[in-house]
Amino acid sequence: MNKTVTLTYEGKQIELPVVTGSEGEEAIDISRLRAETGLITLDPGYVNTGSCLSAITFMNGEKGILRYRGIPVEQLAEHSSFKETAYLLINGHLPNRDELTQFSVMLNDHSLVHTDMKAFYQNYPRASHPMGILSSMVNALRSFYPALDTEEQIDIAMTRLLAKVRTMAAMSYKISRGHELVLPRPDLTFCENFLNMMFDTPVTPYEIKREVVNALRVFWILHADHEQNCSTSSVRMVGSARVNLYAAISSGIAALWGPLHGGANQAVIEMLTEIQTGGGGYKKAIERAKDKKDPFRLMGFGHRVYKTYDPRAKIMKKTCDELLESLRLEDPLLDVAKKLEETALSDQYFIDHNLYPNVDFYSGIVLRAIGIPTNMFTVMFALGRLPGWIAQWKESKDDPNWKIARPRQIYNGETEYAYVPIHAR
Ligand code: SDX
Repeated sequence: MNKTVTLTYEGKQIELPVVTGSEGEEAIDISRLRAETGLITLDPGYVNTGSCLSAITFMNGEKGILRYRGIPVEQLAEHSSFKETAYLLINGHLPNRDELTQFSVMLNDHSLVHTDMKAFYQNYPRASHPMGILSSMVNALRSFYPALDTEEQIDIAMTRLLAKVRTMAAMSYKISRGHELVLPRPDLTFCENFLNMMFDTPVTPYEIKREVVNALRVFWILHADHEQNCSTSSVRMVGSARVNLYAAISSGIAALWGPLHGGANQAVIEMLTEIQTGGGGYKKAIERAKDKKDPFRLMGFGHRVYKTYDPRAKIMKKTCDELLESLRLEDPLLDVAKKLEETALSDQYFIDHNLYPNVDFYSGIVLRAIGIPTNMFTVMFALGRLPGWIAQWKESKDDPNWKIARPRQIYNGETEYAYVPIHAR
């Protein structure tokens, strides 16, 4: 049955179609609104606005559901490799054995970075944030690999990006420390390779531990996609101008850098450290978070969509406990985080505002246990989100109804008045 809504305005009525998704979500299709009424909608932050139809990720914020191409994230975190999840997001189905083998070969074949890029890193200002470096370097890939005209070239570019960005991130870390680069190895898995490229040195060969590789695999799967969040919407918006894949992904990296978005995982650790080192304790942090006069926010808490516990945060917390136990590591920040969570979840303000831990609340403690430096936490988020960005860019590129994104506005500035010569001002 075709549902509609009726809009009555200044004595006129129009019927607008209601679009229903495969999970029963409903939206008013306002494509004809301005042509038939002269009205547009106004929705700061797009809180109530859908930008597209998408078959990639389904979230239900009230029930805490997250599925990639229909598969619950809990099952992927339990059983899937990160490579399989990346393939699933981009291609719409889990790979069979041959498809996975071919994907692995292509990832290995494209995992080296052009030697000329090393100079870019070496001449980048030393104090630069790794997210700024990553966004620049991903954009620079277009200069090395300009072939993006045919579907086959684009397919290769998508796999190339997955393979190279992981190497570029490790390369950035090694160069920042003045260490020799470690090249990717075809005998290692995707996650093992990253860890080895990051931490292997001629003096102390890196010991690849199963529990560390597993924690990284889960971390990246949990971050792999999240429908139309700020950075993914940036990739789609920039991509809608038919710019190349690298530039579109570079815009997503820039958006993810923000402390309200992917930068929150770094901000959480900074917040927990401040609380732990005498910043007034976790009770003071809770009071500050509730004080409207105080700009302080409880980082890692709250979400635009989830109005219950972020399903990824549950898995991240479990992974955190298991990793620290298996490595026999004590992290005082974990105790602070758990006390903060316990206090917040029983505080009326947090209950009334539906504020729960999100994916960033425990993820930083997992990354610390792996040995990732704090200023690379958001880079780790970007590496995980890359297959999601690529899948979303591809879906919008292939959408026959897609057009360049160009929102409207309501102007509330000066009404017309004449130019005033300088002597009369
Ligand atoms: C990510 O969108 C995605 O899917 C993102 C992400 C992904 O995978 O791509 O999930 C990744 O970005 C997770 C979020 C990481 N950011 C943080 O942890 C930063 C702290 N969180 C907040 O800044 C906030 O909760 C946001 C940004 C996450 C969501 O903000 P919204 O939806 O715009 O909500 P809001 O700012 O309008 O807040 C609503 C109310 C306000 O109070 P009132 O004025 O209504 O009384 O809730 C309060 C806010 O003050 N509030 C908080 C709070 N978050 C919201 N108060 C204290 N601490 C917080 N963390």
